[in-house]
Amino acid sequence: MADNVQDHGQLVFAHLNGVVRTAALYPATHPQALKARETLHGALTAYLAAHGTLTYRFLGDVLVANERILARESLVYRRLLEICQKERQIGSITFTDGVEPREMDVLVEALTQGVGESLSAWTAQKGLTHVLLEPPVQAEQQSVEVMARRAYYGSVDTLREIESTIRSSAPVAGEQIGTLRVFTSALLEQVLQIPDLVLRLASIKSYDEYTLYHSVNVAVISMGLGLVLDLPGPLLHEVAMAGMLHDLGKIAIPLEILRKPGPLSEEEWRIMRRHPLLGAEVLSRLSVANRLPMIVAFEHHMRFDRQGYPFLRDNWTQHPVSRLACVADVFDAMTSRRAYKKAIPSRNVCTYVREQAGLIFDPRLPRILDHMVERLRAAPGRGAPR
Ligand SMILES: [Fe+2]
Ligand SMILES: [Fe+2]
Repeated sequence: MADNVQDHGQLVFAHLNGVVRTAALYPATHPQALKARETLHGALTAYLAAHGTLTYRFLGDVLVANERILARESLVYRRLLEICQKERQIGSITFTDGVEPREMDVLVEALTQGVGESLSAWTAQKGLTHVLLEPPVQAEQQSVEVMARRAYYGSVDTLREIESTIRSSAPVAGEQIGTLRVFTSALLEQVLQIPDLVLRLASIKSYDEYTLYHSVNVAVISMGLGLVLDLPGPLLHEVAMAGMLHDLGKIAIPLEILRKPGPLSEEEWRIMRRHPLLGAEVLSRLSVANRLPMIVAFEHHMRFDRQGYPFLRDNWTQHPVSRLACVADVFDAMTSRRAYKKAIPSRNVCTYVREQAGLIFDPRLPRILDHMVERLRAAPGRGAPR
């Protein structure tokens, strides 16, 4: 992502601040107020066309935009951050593509007049569909969240290192896998404290480094599914490690295929379909303490009905953790924006998983995914379902 003002949402936030300041001076129908809302809508639309979504998170006096801390803006807009959290009970604002001018009016109302007793009820009543408002997180929740985010990005950094080691044809060091284990443990520890972190962490996406962030997201979503299944801690950790490493074979796939901004040709698909086998081969040479990551890397595209790949003629039963990883994999892939497709809302992904029960997915798992999405969304202190 280019390092310019527009890319990290600074400009949009400046316009948001402008709208709030204008609303304090002029009535809503005054030309200045209308112009300010129009400018905000224009900047937002341009940003969303390029990036898909934009989330501002207010963590005390820190402003985070799409998971980046905006240090300068945190200082400049300190008053607005304070108003949002303390006076309006708003801890984050997420904009999605398709945002309408009408929704700017509703947002201004929320920021200047408040939302009454219940943020979720107010949001539903106002028909906000492309603007999601969520309440602030508590102070102790903030520190858990900060730790979880450090562990998340630590996992991404470690996977990036492993990737460059493999791409330079050097052997992966046991230490690198050990580091990944440590970050996975740290992530799990935070998630066990605040389970609804799963959906917030899994909403971190990267357009440019899709596979790295996708791998961490599959680990996090696998933890969420494992929590619903009440899996014991050590098994949860192994399930998460398997998620981290499930697409390791993609590292051996040429970058021009991985990053192709459009559908793959038949030949490119043939190469892409080799990644489960390649991943299992790489993992078979590593010390990963147990064989689960290797099994999951090999089986995650196999499908419940065994019509996926690699296609095996003989009698083969997919490991239950591979089935779980398959759901986590599809959930993250479908909720991510790619060059050739938009992000799909999580409720639509749940519907798809239900429709494919017994075909792609183990028929017991759609219910677990529904529970995960609903339970974690409805966790105390969080906002309205998306
Ligand atoms: Fe895969
Ligand atoms: Fe994947």
